[in-house]
Amino acid sequence: MSESTQTYSMHELVSLCKRRGFIYPASEIYGGINGFWDYGPLGTALKNNLRDLWWRDMVQRPPLGPDGNEVSIVGLDSAIIQNAKVWEASGHVGGFNDPMVDCRETKARYRADHLMCLGLKGDRSGQIYAYVDGDEDSLAAAQKKLEKYVKKALSPDDVDTCQLTALSAEELAVTVGPDTKNAGTLTEPRQFNLMFDTTTGAIRNEDSKVYLRPETAQGIFLNFNNVVDTMRVKVPFGIAQIGKAFRNEVTPRNFIFRSREFEQMEIEWFCHEDDAEKWFEFWCDVRSSWWQSIGLTGANIMMRKHDDDELAHYAKEGCGTFDIEYRFPFTHPGFGELEGVAHRGNYDLSRHQEFSKKKLAYFDQAKNERYLPHVIEPSAGLSRGTLALLCEAYTPDPDRASKVYMAFHPKIAPIQAAVFPLVGKDGMPEIAHQLWSELRERWDVVTDVKQSIGKRYARMDEAGCPFCFTIDGDTASDQAVTVRHRDTQAQERIALDQVATFMSEKVG
Ligand code: GAP
Repeated sequence: MSESTQTYSMHELVSLCKRRGFIYPASEIYGGINGFWDYGPLGTALKNNLRDLWWRDMVQRPPLGPDGNEVSIVGLDSAIIQNAKVWEASGHVGGFNDPMVDCRETKARYRADHLMCLGLKGDRSGQIYAYVDGDEDSLAAAQKKLEKYVKKALSPDDVDTCQLTALSAEELAVTVGPDTKNAGTLTEPRQFNLMFDTTTGAIRNEDSKVYLRPETAQGIFLNFNNVVDTMRVKVPFGIAQIGKAFRNEVTPRNFIFRSREFEQMEIEWFCHEDDAEKWFEFWCDVRSSWWQSIGLTGANIMMRKHDDDELAHYAKEGCGTFDIEYRFPFTHPGFGELEGVAHRGNYDLSRHQEFSKKKLAYFDQAKNERYLPHVIEPSAGLSRGTLALLCEAYTPDPDRASKVYMAFHPKIAPIQAAVFPLVGKDGMPEIAHQLWSELRERWDVVTDVKQSIGKRYARMDEAGCPFCFTIDGDTASDQAVTVRHRDTQAQERIALDQVATFMSEKVG
């Protein structure tokens, strides 16, 4: 996507993802299931590349700390299902709720804080039209309904917008929901718990009820003592985890942006309370530069401090949370959350200490001080990050055969190179096979002999493969291949024995 202008619709991206094997609707042959997605071969490769880079850059080779010294982060892989008391302690059973509004007529359910209302300026006595915030079609439909109601075209100066939650009960009674014609069908907002539950063991009752984790973070807090006791870590240090999380989102939407099953990449950074502010700033910087290092352009990324009424139940008052936001096509020209960096204080460790009755304080031998560390948490969406990479890469180009190419950074491209014999004879397939075998030891490389070379390039453009190496009739004699660059379509001739060096320089 260009830096400031949106040049394509989500519909086009979703269709490419299906056509080229990035992402498919889950259970598609049964009509699908709302909020769940399957990753195809290319989507899996892209997501795994993103995951592996995060692990390498945050856990195996983390950045230097603010004082120039190496920081220490260790990995973890905890269970998805934990003792149900974990979620009472974490506040998710009591507090992990969204205010919901139901439409009595259509049975559609909306997050109350995602519904905006449109009415005539200074006059809320007539009808008020509700629409889904961030959804331009729904805003246009609400505007049309309002114009029909007042029987004239309206300019932005004539209309008043507010959040649905700001309306009184009387005003709600004259509100027309986004998907209905009649006023007064929306219920008042009520709380809705987002956790999926199930049972363990043969007997299904309240005592056997357990939950699918809604965040990977809690598995880290549960193992704080274990890690301190078994690894030679000293505060400050971090524990990182990548894994699935599940939320029964009321309105899953915008492709994989908000789904009911998704993956997170989280670090819980344990530090002394006095140093928390320093580490908070450090992680905000590290994380926003990291997203840029894998190809998200600066203009499409921004940092936003949460408003006080947005803070999660665990966020430390006064310190807040920063979101790293990306300009998705469906939020354009606005931004949507990609990662949150939160100062959780010692909320989680103190709650688990209280509920489990196990001591979780850390003893600093050098300072002879015992304390519950404070936590800075960079929490990124792996699924949402994959979507941001797809959105950033999608580049319409009417002048090429495929009409579009995916400009992935070579480091995360699902296919990093293709090796093509120009035709399937005269020794070309054998040379191609030999080169492909060598390159695939280090990179994600494909080879293909079918169809014209133009069609094969077009296929690779849509897959986002940055380099194609073609073996032609001269290769056997001059020991050289043609390399085609995806973004410029430029072609150059390089020595066969320099292809691996070329790949090392360009891809790493
Ligand atoms: N442990 C903190 C935590 O879970 P969060 O802001 O609720 O914080 C962190 O989630 C990240 O997880 C988000 O920034 C987003 O990238 C991703 N995420 C959250 N809910 C999601 C959903 N329903 N679908 C896809 N990604 C989601």
